Amino acid sequence: MMGQQEENILKIAVLVSGNGTNLQAILDAIDHEIITNAEVSVVISNNPRAYALKRAMIREVDAVCISPKNFKSRAAFNEALLDKIQSYAVDLVVLAGYLLVIPKIMVDAYPNRIINIHPALIPAFCGTGYYGLKIHKSVLESGVKITGATVHFVDVGIDTGPIILQKAVEIREDDTPEVLQQRVMKEAEWIIMPKAINMIANGRVTVKDGRVHIS
Ligand code: GRF
Repeated sequence: MMGQQEENILKIAVLVSGNGTNLQAILDAIDHEIITNAEVSVVISNNPRAYALKRAMIREVDAVCISPKNFKSRAAFNEALLDKIQSYAVDLVVLAGYLLVIPKIMVDAYPNRIINIHPALIPAFCGTGYYGLKIHKSVLESGVKITGATVHFVDVGIDTGPIILQKAVEIREDDTPEVLQQRVMKEAEWIIMPKAINMIANGRVTVKDGRVHIS
C-alpha cells in the first residue's frame, strides 16, 4: 500500500556550505537505488552562493539559505535553522560539507539522527580548525601513509560522535593537498556517505553505549 510505503521512507534534510559534491553523491545514489527507502526533503545552506543550492534546484529539491548574517544573534540563527528543519518533519539531518558548528539545541532535538562526513580518519586530523584543505595539508606534513574519510553521528563535540563508517585512501609521493582532497572525496566520501544513509534508511544502524552496531 502506498501509505505503508510512504511511512517507511527516511526523510532527510541535507545541510551544505559549498560545492555540494557530497550532496550530489547522495542525490545520484537515490536515483540509482544505491540508497533505498529515503528521500531528500530539503537542502539548507548558510551560504547563499553555495553551488550545492543550485544542485538541489536542478533536482527539484527545496533549496533554502539560512545565513547567520541575517540574524541579530547566533542564538536567533540557530533557532531559525532548527525551526526550518523541523518544518520538514525529517528523520535524519545530513551535514555534507557544512562548515558551521551544530548547536546543542539541534543535537538535543535529533539525538543520533544527525550525521557528518569528515575527510579524515577520526580521531586523527579532526576537531577545531580541521576543515577543508587544511586537513589534507596537515596529513601530508605528518608523513602518514594512509588517510580517508569518516561518517559519524554528531554530538555536542566537534567530530566526536559515534563512528558509523570509515574508508581508507592511500597517499602518494607526489600528492598535493588539492590532489589528495579530490582522491579522498572520490574514493571515500562519495562512497561511504550514501552507504551510511542507505544503512540508516534500512534500519541497519543502532547505537549502544556510544558505539555504532551495523546489522
Ligand atoms: C569535502 O571534503 C567534505 O568532506 C568537507 O567539505 C568538502 C567539500 O564538500 N566537509 P562538498 O563538495 O561541498 O560536499
